[in-house]
Amino acid sequence: MIVNNHFTPEKLYQTLQNVRVGGTVCKYTLKKCEEFTPLINEINELKAQQNAVILAHSYVSPEILYGVADFVGDSYALSKDAMSTPAQRIIFAAVRFMGETAQILNPQKEVLIPALLDGCSLADSITGADVRRLRKEFPDYTFVCYINTTAEVKAESDVCVTSANVYDIVERIPNDKIYFLPDKLMGLNLVEELKKRGSKKNIQYYNGTCYVHEEYSPEQILKIRLEYPSAKVVSHPECSPAVIHDSDFVGSTAQMLTYMKKTNAKEFLMLTECGLSSRLEVEFPDKKLVGSCTLCKYMKSNSLEDILRVFKNPTDRDRVVLDPTIRDRAYKTIEAMFRYVEG
Ligand code: 13P
Ligand code: SF4
Repeated sequence: MIVNNHFTPEKLYQTLQNVRVGGTVCKYTLKKCEEFTPLINEINELKAQQNAVILAHSYVSPEILYGVADFVGDSYALSKDAMSTPAQRIIFAAVRFMGETAQILNPQKEVLIPALLDGCSLADSITGADVRRLRKEFPDYTFVCYINTTAEVKAESDVCVTSANVYDIVERIPNDKIYFLPDKLMGLNLVEELKKRGSKKNIQYYNGTCYVHEEYSPEQILKIRLEYPSAKVVSHPECSPAVIHDSDFVGSTAQMLTYMKKTNAKEFLMLTECGLSSRLEVEFPDKKLVGSCTLCKYMKSNSLEDILRVFKNPTDRDRVVLDPTIRDRAYKTIEAMFRYVEG
C-alpha cells in the first residue's frame, strides 16, 4: 500500500523527473507539477474524509500512481487488494472490466470508475452471447476467460485467469479440452507454453487481440538488440508468439517489474504499455529503458480531474452496477481462479 502525504510541487517533481518515455504526455516539468499538486492534495483529503481507496493499474499516468493511488499493480494483485480493503468506496483508475472485477468481489461496496473512455480492445471483442454460442459448439470444453472480459463473459465461463497465472492454471485444470478467450495471441502462447511443459491438452481460442500489444514485432527486437546488445527484452503474454520467442522474459506487468528489479542488466526493452516503463523509470533510476513503448488510450483516459470529479459528483455512468445474477456467476469464475492459485 502506498502512503500519499501532503504534496508540494517540488516533492512531486522530484519523484517524476526521471520519467522519459511516453512522449509529451509523460514529460514532467516543475510547472506541470504545480498544476497537479492542488488536485492531488484535494483528492487525498476527500479520500480520507470519505473512507475511500484509490486502486490504479500501472498503465495509468504517473501523477495518479505517485500522487493519489493507495494500491498500484497488475490485474491479479489489484483484485486481491480490492478484496482486502476495509474502505467502503473504491475508485478504480484503470479500465471498466477491472472496476467490474472489484465490484464482483465487493458487492456491498461502491466502486467508481473515473476513466472517460469505456473499454479495452480485448474485453470488447466478445459478448456473453458469443460464449453461450461457443459452449454449444464445444460442449466438453472447460471455458477459461482472461480477466480482460466483461462481468457477463465471466458469468458464462468456468475459470478466470490473469497474465500472472494463465499457464499454471490451464495446466492444472482437470480437463484436456480447454477453450481460452478472448485473446488469440495469448491463446497461441498458451498452446506453445503447454507444449513445452509436455502437456497434451487440446486448446481452442477466440480471435480477440489487444491493439497495444499486437503492434510489437521481432524486427523491433532485432533493431534494439543490434543497438544495445546487452539489453534484456521483457514482454507481456498479450504479444505475438514471434515476439515471445525472441524475448528474455515474459510475464504480467508485475512480473515484468520484478524481473527488472532482480536482473543485473542495465538496459531493458519493455514490450508493454508506456505506463509500466514510466513506473520503472521512477522506481529504478539506475536502469535504462531503450526503444519505444505504446499508449493504451483506455488506460490513459484516467486523469486527476476526473478522479476529483468522481469524488465530488459521481454520476450513474461512473458507478459500477451489476445484475446480481451475473455478479454471482462471475464471482464463482473468479473464485475458481483464487482456488487454483492458492491450492
Ligand atoms: P496485467 O494483468 O499484466 O497488468 O495486464 C493487464 C492488461 O490489460 C495488459 O494489457
Ligand atoms: Fe485492454 Fe490492451 Fe489497454 Fe490492456 S493495453 S487495457 S488489453 S486495450
